[in-house]
Parts: sequence; structure tokens; C-alpha cells
Amino acid sequence: MKTRKYLILNGPNLGHIGTRQPEIYGAKGLDSLPELLKELLGEAAGGIELVFHQSNFEGNLIDRLEMARREELDGVAFNAGALTHTSLALADCLAWIGVPCVEVHLSNIFARTDEPLRQQSLMGKACIGVVAGFGILGYALAVLALERHVNR
Ligand code: DQA
Repeated sequence: MKTRKYLILNGPNLGHIGTRQPEIYGAKGLDSLPELLKELLGEAAGGIELVFHQSNFEGNLIDRLEMARREELDGVAFNAGALTHTSLALADCLAWIGVPCVEVHLSNIFARTDEPLRQQSLMGKACIGVVAGFGILGYALAVLALERHVNR
């Protein structure tokens, strides 16, 4: 089977995962992702290439998603941070590029009832699914879901 290439895309304030408010977002960094993928996918993890990108700027995230389209990437695991709740521009981008996307959140945004805005996602309807509340494991679960989606 040909190598599948997935983009792990992170938006604003997600450049310090593992350090930023670990009581909310977890203490593990993205460096633990390859190991988690191996646990979930076994041998099949060898056929996966991950590319990582993080930006604090909305336009840069759109540029990277458009590039993912040109590169014909197999999918995106995308944590847009706070832009999840506000960015129609990101939702518009995901709606047309034709690259399957899984929305990822480290925290369970639906349980953050003290901040109702966090329970709303503008980009969710342009995604094949949402993973929230499992910390870094969420990115690995998103890649697993993309694998099944791509090979369905
Ligand atoms: C987040 C949740 C968002 O509400 C928040 O703005 C983030 C991180 C998460 O991963 O839980 O920056 O996307």
C-alpha cells in the first residue's frame, strides 16, 4: 500500500502543547504522537507519514490547507484552537478543498459549560468527525479515523 501522508495542523496558542495549562490540555507534547500511533495501528503505522504545522494566524492556516490540497494529502487532523469557535473563513476553506479533515481538541470542549462559546464549532460541519477530550491521543485517534476513511 502506498504511504499515506497526513497533516497535523494546530492553530493559535497550540505551539506549546504539554506546557500550556496542562491541567486543561494535558502534559504530553506532540512528540509522543508517533508512539501512540504505533500502539493504535501496529504495523500499519509504518505506512504513515506525518507532517506538522502550527500557526497563530488564521490566514496562514488557510494557506497551509490550500497547500494540503495541492499536495493531495490524504487528510488533516486539525485543532484550530479558539478559531474553531469563530472562524467562518476556516470553515469555508475546509468546505471546498476536498481533503478529509478531523476536528481535534485536547480538552472536552462540550464539558466546558462555564464557557458556552467553546461548545460551538463553526468548522465541524466541514469535517468527517470530531475528537475531543483525550489530549494528545486525540490526534492519533484522528489519524486512525482518517486511515479508515481513506481506505474504506
Ligand atoms: C482547544 C479548545 C479551544 O477552546 C481553545 O481555544 C484552545 C484549545 C483544545 O484543544 O481543547 O486553544 O482547541
